[in-house]
Amino acid sequence: MSQPTVYSPSPEFVRNANVQGMEGYLELYRRAEQNPEEFWGEVAGQEIHWFEKWSHVLEWQPPFARWFVGAKINASYNCLDRHIATHRKNKVAILWEGEPGEQRFITYQELHRLVSRFASVLKNRGYQTGDRAIIYMPMIPELPIAMLACARLGIIHSVVFGGFSSEALKARVQDLGASVVITADGGYRRGKEVKLKPAVDEAMAECPSVRDVIVYRRTGSEITMQAGRDLWWHELDATASEDCPAVPLDSEHPLFVLYTSGTTGKPKGILHTTGGYLTQTTASMKWIFDLKDEDTYWCSADIGWVTGHTYIVYGPLSAGATTVIYEGSPDYPQFDRWWRIVEKYRVNTLYTSPTAIRALLRQGEQWPKMHDLSSLRLLGSVGEPINPAAWEWYHRVIGKARCPIVDTWWQTETGSTMIAPMPGAVPQKPGSGTLPLPGVVPDIVDLNGKEVGPEREGFLIIRRPWPGMIRTIWGDPERFKEQYWSRVPGAYFTGDAARRDHDGYYWVLGRVDDVMNVSGHRLSTMEVESALVRHPAVAEAAVVGKPHEITGQAVCCFVTLKQGDFNRDQLGKDLRQWVAHEIGTFARPEEIRFTEALPKTRSGKIMRRLLREIVTTNTVSGDVTTLEDLSVVTRLASQHDED
Ligand code: WT7
Repeated sequence: MSQPTVYSPSPEFVRNANVQGMEGYLELYRRAEQNPEEFWGEVAGQEIHWFEKWSHVLEWQPPFARWFVGAKINASYNCLDRHIATHRKNKVAILWEGEPGEQRFITYQELHRLVSRFASVLKNRGYQTGDRAIIYMPMIPELPIAMLACARLGIIHSVVFGGFSSEALKARVQDLGASVVITADGGYRRGKEVKLKPAVDEAMAECPSVRDVIVYRRTGSEITMQAGRDLWWHELDATASEDCPAVPLDSEHPLFVLYTSGTTGKPKGILHTTGGYLTQTTASMKWIFDLKDEDTYWCSADIGWVTGHTYIVYGPLSAGATTVIYEGSPDYPQFDRWWRIVEKYRVNTLYTSPTAIRALLRQGEQWPKMHDLSSLRLLGSVGEPINPAAWEWYHRVIGKARCPIVDTWWQTETGSTMIAPMPGAVPQKPGSGTLPLPGVVPDIVDLNGKEVGPEREGFLIIRRPWPGMIRTIWGDPERFKEQYWSRVPGAYFTGDAARRDHDGYYWVLGRVDDVMNVSGHRLSTMEVESALVRHPAVAEAAVVGKPHEITGQAVCCFVTLKQGDFNRDQLGKDLRQWVAHEIGTFARPEEIRFTEALPKTRSGKIMRRLLREIVTTNTVSGDVTTLEDLSVVTRLASQHDED
């Protein structure tokens, strides 16, 4: 294999960095390795405000962890109150741009007021510590305001990405037993209104736990308000008190639940608690983004995913940063929108996904060239492996070969970044997340849990507990144990394959389970299959990820039909639309292939490996001796050639 190019930060970058040079990194890493509890105790003491200190740092009864035991904390206090007592009082906390072009510059002082008022609203409606709120909103400041208002009172929030359908929303409200839903009439995307309230209305018919639906008016379009259930945000806000102190909560009080796809049809509610999550989130913000008080920092993710929770809301605000939020699409009104934003606000750090980079790359260099991008000093990537060609383009065309790129590996479950180069310390290799952050102990093992050697592919695991780790799956501790802690004794199983090179650098290769990664969004094959078989025409379905130039993977479905006469062209379109309706538009299949039968083992298990091979190479090799009907495979493989 050819050796990858190594990119080292410039001496100037190193000189100004929070962590300087390999020695700086290794010093921190070794200290954490030798005495993790002392290390995290120190970090927690430095980075976070505590109402009361812990009795001990960690209580570890595998796989259940408690961090900063007995301590009292509030995440909203850490993101707001502690800053308004400093020079940050009038610093911009949230710098927002709507897709139609509006701007809002919300200072820490102002954000504190807005959050306190909305927390008062929730309190007045009778919500309290331990209640659950579903937040289903566009990318407007009221989304983080609602999150922070919940956190202020200890209400557990669960943000549902606005691209999810009413079906998906309903399943989450029900699983969580939420008593309040916070939403908006709609938001803007690609110049059009994307309505949200009608999806809420549809879901509410089967959500008896919900007492109130609070609606923020964003677009002003026509929606129906149901008397006795729906309330306007602005009406409640008009009389709300600005005095609503943050409640001191136990360090292990749940901060949020975020649903993500597992290997079954049912999404998992990943539970994160307060003290450990906030400690690691805040520290990693400073380590990987080399955050400085004067930075204008922009993470382009949606707050509905964990990236947005950790690196748009909690990380930046707890660290006292200016966090940019942009509501809309990168190609509206044309392909220079992001570069226009970078130039206009003099953005210093941009954190985005390989999918977005590839999509922008494809449009050509003329778009970034139209703008002055010289304010950028650091770039980041997250969500999926980044291919070296996209890395090089990002580095050369956006970063002008000046900016380090931090490729950050982590998961909804890990809470914050686990493997990434500290930019002023660790030289980068395109496509590698490089080295673990301090306090993180990954390894690569075989099925017996035995470490594989350098350059060997294996399962990525985490050997030691970490503060921001998932605590359980909401309502299902057995699934939590089984999914993450049963494969390799005593270690956390990530579900990713990886290898480590001779320098100890990690190269994450992708999922080893039935989970697809589409545009950096996790999607389970089973979830799409269950959606398909709910359609009246479908008998059976098998779904696999197919390599895709832009989105990394695309959803490819093999479908057998019930008896009857179907117009296949029309039905193909209908089924794609059906999946979008059942799960969300981001899950819309790229391809539907009709087939007579699906390849199965004698025990009736669908052989997804073969289907993956068919969509990847259009041929089949390997072991097919366990196949129930060999001719099925041959037909599926040749079918595509005829198209
Ligand atoms: C899965 C987690 C972490 C926030 C966004 C996704 C893949 C994530 C990288 C990366 C290679 C990556 C993994 C992981 N992944 N970041 N830098 N390099 N792969 O969160 O939806 O929980 O998905 O995304 O496969 O397991 P998520």
